[in-house]
Order: sequence, then structure tokens, then C-alpha cells
Amino acid sequence: MNISVFGLGYVGAVTAACLAKKGHSIIGVDLHPAKVAAFNQGISPIVEPGLDALLKSGSASGHITATVNADEAVANSEASIICVGTPSLPSGSLDLNYVLSVARQIAAALTASKKAHVLIFRSTMLPGSTRRIVGEVFAGLVQAGTLQIYYCPEFLREGTAVRDFDEPSLAVVGTEDGSSAVPEEIAGLLGGKPELLRWEGAEMIKYSCNYFHALKVGFANEIGRLCKQLGEDGKRVMQVVCEDKKLNISSYYMRPGAPFGGSCLPKDVSALHAFVRHEGMSLPLLENTLATNAAHQQLFVQLIESKQKRRIGFLGLAFKADTDDLRGSPLVAAAETLYGRGHSLSIFDPQINLSRLIGSNEQQIQQRMPHLAQLMKSTANEVLQNSDVIVISQKCATLEALLPDVRPDHHIIDMNGWDELRSLPCQYDGICW
Ligand SMILES: NC(=O)c1ccc[n+]([C@@H]2O[C@H](COP(=O)([O-])OP(=O)(O)OC[C@H]3O[C@@H](n4cnc5c(N)ncnc54)[C@H](O)[C@@H]3O)[C@@H](O)[C@H]2O)c1
Repeated sequence: MNISVFGLGYVGAVTAACLAKKGHSIIGVDLHPAKVAAFNQGISPIVEPGLDALLKSGSASGHITATVNADEAVANSEASIICVGTPSLPSGSLDLNYVLSVARQIAAALTASKKAHVLIFRSTMLPGSTRRIVGEVFAGLVQAGTLQIYYCPEFLREGTAVRDFDEPSLAVVGTEDGSSAVPEEIAGLLGGKPELLRWEGAEMIKYSCNYFHALKVGFANEIGRLCKQLGEDGKRVMQVVCEDKKLNISSYYMRPGAPFGGSCLPKDVSALHAFVRHEGMSLPLLENTLATNAAHQQLFVQLIESKQKRRIGFLGLAFKADTDDLRGSPLVAAAETLYGRGHSLSIFDPQINLSRLIGSNEQQIQQRMPHLAQLMKSTANEVLQNSDVIVISQKCATLEALLPDVRPDHHIIDMNGWDELRSLPCQYDGICW
């Protein structure tokens, strides 16, 4: 394929060199004549292991050329990849002017040539950017059916960029609707087995990944600081933490949904927070972990109340299924708040048999919800019959069993994002979807 690569910085130079290695003919485009001249001589404009050799051989074999002329590049290629910078503005927000400027140049060249073209945005852009740029700059070309547009975020790391291009940690292709088939030659262009999403989803993946990476560094550093204070080896502690591939280094706990709860997480995070404060230390991530959970809980109650109904049902009261442990349950906290605000509640949890509850569970109910007994129903269907809003945190019954009692005016609030619940003939909502 003949491909133009716009922006010959860290991402563009590596993309150009690696695509040339795969046999594509690359035309690099940059504003800076010095970068273009260097590229044309097979000299890397940046320091990156392995890149010099690739550029030299790409240039020698005629697979890589460069120009400052966008029209010339677009006229001689079937696809363009935009890799220009998206720096921060002084306010911290993202400057899309370089992307917009290149987009306008490409649109002008394509409007003049009327040739079919594939356009891939590779620069990191906030969710909604691709759709906005397409609307502003490419609407006519898209309507004419001559332009296919994809957003494919880049995950390479400087220092290992060539290897990362060949073996990407993740491959993502964003399309307008997230479901149209992506031609094989495009899907295979940037390596890996791509996940298909809408443009916004693909843009969000890039930010989610970098946010997560930053969070991991912050977390490891907070554990390290705490360990140093205790005279413990933080590196060793984190090494052992990472040995747990079941709960720690895994997708476990990585689903949006209910606030964290139960008998351990809230208690242990609070205790560690109190300990850190006592030690006179500042661990903002730890502190804000409690704050973000409290904000999520508040939003959960707000969502229930936003339906403006008085009769609220809970299918599931314990913090997760298959336990009768009510300690720290976000559902108990929400029920308590709503009850206090005068709502009428109906609750069913298959694991909670009031006559069997003893010890801390019984105490929890006596202290916080002394009226729980009269709110408990013996079937999920009774909850449906007595409620207008139903909070579903556990699968307390099969959908078939619930169906006879579901009304079109019921509001289901799904705490876990179970796709099956969307098929119930009623209104559907959730905190994160
Ligand atoms: N550097 C990384 O490790 C990395 C990794 C993943 C994603 N990204 C993202 O990729 C994008 C590019 O990053 P980078 O580090 O390669 O940036 P960079 O600043 O190194 O390079 C950008 C290049 O674009 C050129 N340019 C600007 N306007 C142009 C125009 N109108 N026409 C042609 N060229 C133009 C600049 O001259 C420069 O050479 C950014 O959105 C960045 O966030 C970077």
C-alpha cells in the first residue's frame, strides 16, 4: 500500500519505518524541512533503538520518502495516518490545532483529486474529537462515500517503540458505528488483533490505559513511601503483591458497577488511611480512594431518587451474591438513606434469612435497619409487585421468572451491567451505563 504518514516525531517516524519494513511505500510529511531532509537521507529525526537501521534500509530500498507537501503526499497514496502532536494548552486541555490543520490539508487534497482514500487518526485525542473533526472537515467526502475514517490509538512506549509496534500491547480500531467490518488490510496495518469500537470508545481506551498506567505508578509509589516509613522494602512488597495474578494483576475488580463494600475493603482502606495520617504522611491516592467510593455511593442514591418514585425495591442486599454478609454493603447504606428519606422499601436477597442471621450481621441490622424484617419479601416477584424502581445487584431470579411481574413503567437500576436485563420490557438504567 502507498501510505502517507503525517508528523515525523516519535510516533510518526516509528510508524513510517515499521510499515516500510512490512513492504509498504511510505511518504512521510512534516512541517519541518530539516526533519524531512533527514528522513529522505534515511536519518532518524529522533533517538529510538532500532529506528536508524530501519530508516536507512527503507530509504535505500525506496520504500521511504518524505516531503513538506501534503497535496503531493495525498495524491500519491491510498491511505493517510495522522501522527502529529496533540500537546497540552496552558490550561491543561488538549490542543487539537495540529490535527485540525493536517485534516484540512488532507480534505482539500482529496476534494481536488476525488480519489478514494483511507484516513487513520493515530494521535491521542479526547473522546468525541474524531466525530467533531469528521463533522467539521470531512462530512462531504464521507457522504460521497470516497473516504473511510478510523481512529486507531497508539500504545507504543519510547525506548521500545519499534518492538512495541511489531508486538503491540493492544490493538484497537475505532469506526463510526463500532460495528462495520474493517477491511483486512486496514485491520492488519498497525499490528495485533484489533478490538473494534466506536470512535469515542477507541479514544476512551487510550485515555483509560494511560490513566491506569499513571494510577499504577502512583499506587506503587505510595506503597513504596509507606514501606520506607516502616523500614520495609517497598520493591519486595510490590513484587509479592504482583505475584497474585488472580485478584491483583488481573481483570478482577476492573468492571464498572457498584461502589466497593463488604467486610474488608472499606474497613482496611479506612484503617490504613488512619494509620498514614497518624504517621504524619500524605498518600493522596489512598485518601481519595475513600472519597471516590463515597461519591459513587452518593451518585447511586441520586440515580434511584432521580426516578421520582417512592416505592423502591432491592433484589440483593448483601455486598455480593452468595453471601449473607451485610457488613459494609453499599446496598444496605443506600436502603438506609432511602428509608430515612421516607421511601417505601421492599427487599429480597436469597441468602438472607432473618431468623438465621447472628453475630455481626444481626447487630448490623438491629443498629442500622431495625425495620429490615418488615421490608424483606420472600420472593423477587413480590419486590417487583411492590416497587416502581428496582435496584438489581444480584441475580435473584431468572428473567423468565421475573417477566410476569415486570411492568413497562418499572425502572430497573442495574448495578452490574448485565446485558440480559436490557431485554426486560421496562425502563433500564445504571450508574456507569
Ligand atoms: N510519544 C509517545 O510515546 C506517544 C505514544 C502514544 C501516542 N502518542 C501520541 O501520538 C501523537 C504524536 O506524538 P509524538 O510524540 O510523535 O509527537 P511529536 O511532537 O514528537 O511529533 C509530532 C510531529 O508532528 C509534526 N507536525 C505538526 N503539525 C504538522 C502538520 N500540519 N503537518 C505535518 N507535520 C506536522 C511536528 O513537526 C512533529 O514532527 C500525540 O498525540 C501523542 O500524544 C505519543
